[in-house]
Amino acid sequence: GAIEKGGYDHFMIKEILEQPSTIFDCLRGRLETQNPSIQLSGIDKYKEQFLTGQRIIILACGTSWHAGLVAEYIIEELCRIPVEVEYASEFRYRNPVVHSGDIIVAISQSGETADTIVAIDQAKKNGAIIMGVVNAVGSTIARLSDTGVYTHSGPEIGVASTKAFTGQVTVLILVALKVALEKGTITKERFNQLCIELAGVPDKVQEIFVQNDHINKIAQKYSHLKDALYLGRGYNFPIALEGALKLKEISYIHAEGYPAAEMKHGPIALVDESLLSVFIATKDPYYEKIISNIQEIKARKGMVLAIVSKGDTMISGIADDIIEIPEIDELIAPILNVIPLQLLSYYIGVAKGFDVDKPRNLAKSVTVE
Ligand code: G6P
Repeated sequence: GAIEKGGYDHFMIKEILEQPSTIFDCLRGRLETQNPSIQLSGIDKYKEQFLTGQRIIILACGTSWHAGLVAEYIIEELCRIPVEVEYASEFRYRNPVVHSGDIIVAISQSGETADTIVAIDQAKKNGAIIMGVVNAVGSTIARLSDTGVYTHSGPEIGVASTKAFTGQVTVLILVALKVALEKGTITKERFNQLCIELAGVPDKVQEIFVQNDHINKIAQKYSHLKDALYLGRGYNFPIALEGALKLKEISYIHAEGYPAAEMKHGPIALVDESLLSVFIATKDPYYEKIISNIQEIKARKGMVLAIVSKGDTMISGIADDIIEIPEIDELIAPILNVIPLQLLSYYIGVAKGFDVDKPRNLAKSVTVE
């Protein structure tokens, strides 16, 4: 009822708006900014394995798999350890190569997803070490894991995952930073800088909410859509996938996430005046490239909604609509950039009168094959 929803109409919006505090809870007691350091007992226990490990395999499904993709980019960048990200459902059936000493990171909100459970069980039998990144305390995956780091996002009721995703990405950044510092693959200066930026995330998420009415207006404008493309590069490519997934789940609008540079190999054929392209175009080394991708869409009369860094005047002159994100280091930006995409799907789903907390045909946790 209304009480559990904390006065909100739906769990989904309650959970989206909770993110400043759930991210804060995820960092609490782990991230120290005075003299920057990271405490994660789950990593300390297997420190040797993380320092000598030849590769990391990330296993997950759905939104958790998208968090895994963000982690692949971040762990490889900071720790110089090769990372593979696999759908648990594929991994479990395809006789994958797993070596003793491989580190498996299992990401799951519920800790009860059947495919993920079986996949880690098999990897464990082959001698892999399992680290769980789980939200539900004491869940099956938490119990099966050799070690782990909880996301501490609190119960997530809305079927579409929101706060659990930002919790997963936050945990995985903490893990990457800690391992990188121990391995010496990051300078202390860069480590300190990223720790301080990470601590600032909860306030910056709160800042995004100032635009909620604006995002709602954009949602009304696009609620009639049939198709949408979500495009991003680098750390924001997985965010494009996640944005597209949220739109499909909540508003039943067909959406595809793509690496922005790859659109010319297919999706660009879809562009006309009825197609919306949502670009994640915050300031990072790909910024100029993303601007040319936006121009390619505009030249074909497509509509463009761009997620941009605060104060960006360049893209606001080209895109049909923009949503601003506070400036933050590109490595941490995915946590902020996903927030307006969650809100956009929520407001479109509500505008269309759908049951956003319980989308048709979907389950919160898929405990059968
Ligand atoms: C279902 C849910 C998704 C979730 C996925 C994986 O499809 O609807 O929101 O991302 O399962 O669930 P897990 O609990 O393992 O993260």
